Amino acid sequence: MQTWRLDTARQTLCLGSENGGVPSVIYWGAPLPLTEDLSQVALAHIPDVAAGMLDETAALSLCPEAARGFPGQPGLQARDLNGARLLPRFTLARCTQKNGELSFQLTEAALGLALELELLADPDTHVIRATTRLHSDTAIVVDWLAAPVFPASQMAAEMVEFSGRWCGEFQTRHLPWAPGARLRDNGTGRSGHEHFPGLIVADPGCNNSSGTASAFHYGWSGGHRMLAEELADGRRQIQFGHASGSYAPGTEFETAPLYLTRSDQGLNACATAFQRHLRDRISPPVKTPRPLHYNCWESVYFNHNLKELKDIASRAAALGAERFVLDDGWFGRRDDDTTSLGDWVVDPRKYPEGLTPLIDHIKALGMGFGLWFEPEMVNEDSELFRAHPDWVLGPMDQPRGRQQLVLDMSRSDVVDHLYGQIAALLHDYDIEYIKWDHNRVLPGPSAAQTKGTYALLDRLRAAFPAVDIESCASGGGRVDFGILQRCGRVWLSDSNDALERMRIQHEAALFLPASVTGSHVGPRRCHTSGRVIDMATRAWVAAQRHMGFEMDPRELTGAEAETLSQVASWWKTNRDWMQQADILRLDHADPAVLAEMQLAQDGHRFVAFAGQRETSDQILPRPLRLTGLEPLARYEIELINRGDTPALSRGTPALKSVPLTLSGAYLMDHGLTLPWNLPQTIRVIEGRRT
Ligand code: GLA
Repeated sequence: MQTWRLDTARQTLCLGSENGGVPSVIYWGAPLPLTEDLSQVALAHIPDVAAGMLDETAALSLCPEAARGFPGQPGLQARDLNGARLLPRFTLARCTQKNGELSFQLTEAALGLALELELLADPDTHVIRATTRLHSDTAIVVDWLAAPVFPASQMAAEMVEFSGRWCGEFQTRHLPWAPGARLRDNGTGRSGHEHFPGLIVADPGCNNSSGTASAFHYGWSGGHRMLAEELADGRRQIQFGHASGSYAPGTEFETAPLYLTRSDQGLNACATAFQRHLRDRISPPVKTPRPLHYNCWESVYFNHNLKELKDIASRAAALGAERFVLDDGWFGRRDDDTTSLGDWVVDPRKYPEGLTPLIDHIKALGMGFGLWFEPEMVNEDSELFRAHPDWVLGPMDQPRGRQQLVLDMSRSDVVDHLYGQIAALLHDYDIEYIKWDHNRVLPGPSAAQTKGTYALLDRLRAAFPAVDIESCASGGGRVDFGILQRCGRVWLSDSNDALERMRIQHEAALFLPASVTGSHVGPRRCHTSGRVIDMATRAWVAAQRHMGFEMDPRELTGAEAETLSQVASWWKTNRDWMQQADILRLDHADPAVLAEMQLAQDGHRFVAFAGQRETSDQILPRPLRLTGLEPLARYEIELINRGDTPALSRGTPALKSVPLTLSGAYLMDHGLTLPWNLPQTIRVIEGRRT
């Protein structure tokens, strides 16, 4: 058996190929000694053959093959153009290995197929990037192509995955492993609120800061398919690839990168691996320091009035905003959501002198200017649709979504047209930011559509490198490492309800760093939940990520404005290190509390946020255990928003009046005991290593 290994300080991945077949993962776990004899690992990996099984146990390889008797779902399912099933048996032609990268070239001479499997281990972030490419000499139909297939731990009792909806992204589901397949096939054509393309496989007892887990993310915006299968023989496999129906017939096929990592130190080590990898390896450069946003959507909607917008901008700047984003409603004749998508020309009724008067006002206030687009969409009531009805993706009798249709981004004339319109605005006006929206699902998944969008974004970024782009899709409908390679921020949810947002961004931190995660202070009465939430809570939730405001500043009382300005100025003082920090999720014995901490890269300072989402069952708060600290180091701990403590807290816990100095061991083992607090509030604790 031929063998190979890839190492990071946290893991060793060993692969083996028997008789020149497709390589398999023969070990993926804690680092093995460099002296480990891989031929022995390979021998130890050979499974038995028992009654009821085929006489050879087919490998669970990087691309499992039905023709070799693999009893589960194969890694490639393809047909010729007449519909006859192709049953490849690949043989290894070549392997190249350099600098943490392994590339396997395989051929299937009889069928005219070539397969390339690539694995790249990042020594600093501990993330492995895995992709599959398939070439066929003649055109074929590919129903399924998996990125390199990995085994899942047989110790694991459950898998953790994510579902969601508009205003309810990143809902975590814990599913038990059982014989058979868990299949998610996302036909919406975007990564979607419903199907965040991620999976965590956790061993029993794994929590945020201890235990063993492996984690997977498919970096693709066009909808993924995931298979987590337990075979009858007990082995388990994880497959990720494009959703069914994504590929048109052809000769070249490629998966998106599958990002994976593993940890012996709980979910946080997987989370910080993804956070760092996205921030330091994938995310495009953005303006620094990250400007504090004001977005006008929830204050004016489609009702744009220059005088009013100038007033709002002045108030937002006075509160601390540094970038003003003009949302939907500025183009065509867009007075509601039934019209004008596709006509990316300033509405002369609302802006008779163009956007210059507004932009000049905003610039004079010291803010940058951002503009909303939804480039891939078209309304039937638009100049674009009247001129090019044939540019629509899918049949005309398809159901509409938000009264709109989708443009066919696989057409170069569509992409050229959109480039021309957007580039003209970026030339004519001083625009430093685009909010790029995508408010409906596609008529079906299509890799060509997603690639067309990527090509347009890449072209705009090359021509306008100083323009930052945010990915939005009715909130978090397009959150994935594919779009985030092109966009430096995501609008994680349309929910500005601070309690909902706290949960959504906390779960999303399993994959996303603070630097890319937008979070805004919404109106006093939340427009999407109807809940009324105190300004301090709204402001502190937004201050945990890339902060912005979205309420109408004219609704603020003097006290609210003061609280908001104070938190905004705290955020500005701390943003530089916080945008580079690790977000560590904290395990808490009280289900009413949702807590996390942001630990600076050098470990010398942190801030912890403990959200009291509802009233606790017991009267006194349970201790909050911190994580990631040096046990023997001492930290000065200060409750920085102690002024928010309600009168019902009558005792004298020291943190209500002074900082405390405690060891990492104390803080991580016993935990911090905080003063009593009202529900729907948040405690902010700063720590500095002394
Ligand atoms: C989507 C976005 C919102 C806003 C509206 C504008 O719903 O998620 O933030 O931009 O579109 O129509």
